[in-house]
Amino acid sequence: MTQARSVQLHEFGGPEVMRLESIDVPAPGPGEVQLRQTAIGFNYIDIYQRSGKYPLQAPTGLGHEAAGVVEALGEGVSDLRPGDRAVYMSAGVGAYAERRNVPAAKLVKIPAGISDEDAAAVFFKAMTAQYLVKRTYAVQPGDVVLVHAAAGGVGQILSGWASALGATVIGTAGSAAKCEIARAAGCAAAIDYSQPDWVAQVIAATGGRKARVVYDSVARHTFMGSLDCTAPFGMVVLYGAASGPAPAIEPELLNKKGCLFLTRPSVFPHNADTATFRANAADVFDAMASGAVRASIGARFGLAQVADAHRLAENRASTGAIVMLP
Ligand SMILES: NC(=O)c1ccc[n+]([C@@H]2O[C@H](COP(=O)([O-])OP(=O)(O)OC[C@H]3O[C@@H](n4cnc5c(N)ncnc54)[C@H](OP(=O)(O)O)[C@@H]3O)[C@@H](O)[C@H]2O)c1
Repeated sequence: MTQARSVQLHEFGGPEVMRLESIDVPAPGPGEVQLRQTAIGFNYIDIYQRSGKYPLQAPTGLGHEAAGVVEALGEGVSDLRPGDRAVYMSAGVGAYAERRNVPAAKLVKIPAGISDEDAAAVFFKAMTAQYLVKRTYAVQPGDVVLVHAAAGGVGQILSGWASALGATVIGTAGSAAKCEIARAAGCAAAIDYSQPDWVAQVIAATGGRKARVVYDSVARHTFMGSLDCTAPFGMVVLYGAASGPAPAIEPELLNKKGCLFLTRPSVFPHNADTATFRANAADVFDAMASGAVRASIGARFGLAQVADAHRLAENRASTGAIVMLP
């Protein structure tokens, strides 16, 4: 048994409900390894879960993603060794901690040349972009693709990856400065969607063709506009709700807007079995090696400053990824 500092929630609400506490970490059980965590990735889902929008059972830890060094092996673990560097993105909540036990099947080794910090900044977000551009809608050369919140963590990676696949990517973001960042991340054009005529501006940027696929993680503010920016027979992918939930619509509306497809996917079912998870992770590391995916760290915090990290994201003051260093 050892002790580690870990963010714990005893209630749900604002950033102040996150408490850094010392908790017992037992020896790793069968199939588990103990990871000394060196970098923790913030993801927007952490805010939905901390605030109670996505329910968890209190008391609970928080966070889905971290990188670190394997320090101890439980019974039956054969594919990892003490000293290996590894990262995870779907091992149950509790990543906001100095150390924890993680099922070995949920870990992948970090390739040489990728730092722990970059792995924690990229892994969850790039695994999201991976299924979005390869599976939900397989992006093809010449496609016009619309990415909302394109200066954000997932947004930058998604824009860069779709562009590397040969698409013309139009991005949106909440300010002129963020539009600049979206362009640097791979968007051919970027539109400030705080402007009332942002839909017309997006359609003009596509040369009137509209987008084959719209990746929408903003929802309330963007969703109806996303339907108008989608080309006939195109797809609207609603994969988050940073501005609040999308309005309910009648299915008939999809007909009126051009026989559109609408889907609401999540990264976890796309990586539920170990073989698929490992193959997708390999695809992500290949994309990092080729430069299609780049780590863009916008801010770093200590674990004790976790509330500041959440405030930065909720106040829309962040760009790229936020990492916490225990
Ligand atoms: N379904 C999945 O598999 C999956 C997996 C990972 C992430 N996601 C979703 O992808 C999105 C991006 O995640 P992330 O971790 O990379 O976060 P992020 O993009 O770094 O932060 C969210 C962004 O949403 C935009 N936004 C628009 N309206 C907002 C509002 N009212 N309040 C706060 N932000 C607002 C902000 O950009 P602007 O200021 O430019 O508007 C902000 O930067 C989130 O919605 C998340 O839930 C989904």
